[in-house]
Amino acid sequence: MSRIATIEIDGKKYELPIIEGSENELAIDIKKLRGLTGGITTIDPGYKNTGSCESAITFLDGEKGILRYRGYSIEDLAEKANFLEVAFLLIFGELPSVDELEKFHEDIKAQAHVDEDVKKIIDGFPKAAHPMGVLSSLTSALVAFNPASVNVDSEEEMYNAIVRILGKFPVLTAWAYRKQAGFPLEYGDNSLGYVDNFLKMMFKKPAAEYESNQIVVDALNKLLILHADHEQNCSTSTVRIVGSSNAGLFVSLSAGINALWGPLHGGANQAVIEMLEAIKEDGGDTKKYMAKAKDKSDPFRLMGFGHRVYKNFDPRAKIIKVAADEVLEALGVEDPILEIAKGLEKEALEDSYFVDRKLYPNVDFYSGIIYRALGIPTEMFTPMFALGRLPGWIAQWREMRLRKEPIGRPRQVYIGETYRKFISANKR
Ligand code: SDX
Repeated sequence: MSRIATIEIDGKKYELPIIEGSENELAIDIKKLRGLTGGITTIDPGYKNTGSCESAITFLDGEKGILRYRGYSIEDLAEKANFLEVAFLLIFGELPSVDELEKFHEDIKAQAHVDEDVKKIIDGFPKAAHPMGVLSSLTSALVAFNPASVNVDSEEEMYNAIVRILGKFPVLTAWAYRKQAGFPLEYGDNSLGYVDNFLKMMFKKPAAEYESNQIVVDALNKLLILHADHEQNCSTSTVRIVGSSNAGLFVSLSAGINALWGPLHGGANQAVIEMLEAIKEDGGDTKKYMAKAKDKSDPFRLMGFGHRVYKNFDPRAKIIKVAADEVLEALGVEDPILEIAKGLEKEALEDSYFVDRKLYPNVDFYSGIIYRALGIPTEMFTPMFALGRLPGWIAQWREMRLRKEPIGRPRQVYIGETYRKFISANKR
């Protein structure tokens, strides 16, 4: 039975279809609204009530704290899958067979290098350059070295672009770190797994042997899976809208990296650690910072708390919180800011300001504590988020193009000056 929404404007009624998703989500389809009503549109700053697309990739239930990639629960995937399996699942829709995964990895390894001239671009950055700015620039620059456009109508071309960026992005991410650390821009070892190879590219010191640490590999594998996709968040919507102009995959991803950088989005993982460090320096006075977070005259927000969709625990935060204890213990790392974070969480969950607004810890609240224990510097936290989110961005971009979505171009309500005649300068 198809549902209808009826709206009445100035005594005239208009009927709009209601669509229902596979998880029984309902949405009023306003595609024909402007034509039906002779020009009336809707407005929804931040798109808090507006869907941009129908998608089959990721399902979130913010009230119940549910997250699934192509129907598989985030809990199952974080516990049982490896990151490349999840990347394949998100992009192509099914978990790969052993042979499919092996071929996928081989095809990615074949692309796990960049043109030596990319090093000249990296040389041009000051050491102090934030790695997110370096990474978005290098991702755009990849087009110059891989000019073949991404024609999604050709599955082969699309596949080649996907394995190309999945091969090269870890190199660019590791080299953005090595540039800042003053290390030579070296490759890892393609005989290692995807995550292990990335860690070697990050941390192998010149003239020294590199030893993999399975605890670190497993922890990063889990973190990358947890960050892999999250339906139409700010950076994913950016990737989709840039790609909707027929801009290529790499430049669309570069735009997504820039959107993710913002401290209200992926940049929050760095902001959380900076906030926890400030609280530690301030004698651990969490109550002072809770008061600042609630004070409307104070721009301070409790970073890592709150979410546009989750009005319950972010399931990823729950998994990362448990993993933080396990990883720090396994590595023998003591980090006082973990206890400060737990204290803040406890206080917030007992405080009516946070409870009434359904503000819970999100994915960024505990992730930085694990990254730190893995030896990843604070400014590299958001690049790690980008490395995890890469397959999700690719999957969403590919879906948008395969569905032949129209170019994204929102309407507006004009509130500026009405018509007025031009006045020459000497008469103003
Ligand atoms: C990510 O969208 C995704 O899926 C994103 C993400 C992904 O995987 O892609 O999950 C990753 O970006 C997680 C979010 C990381 N950002 C932070 O941790 C920054 C701190 N959080 C907030 O800035 C905020 O909660 C947002 C940006 C995450 C969500 O903002 P909304 O949905 O626009 O909510 P809002 O700003 O309208 O807040 C509603 C109320 C307001 O108070 P009132 O006006 O009702 O009195 O809650 C308050 C806000 O002031 N509020 C906070 C708060 N977050 C919201 N108050 C104090 N501290 C906070 N962190």
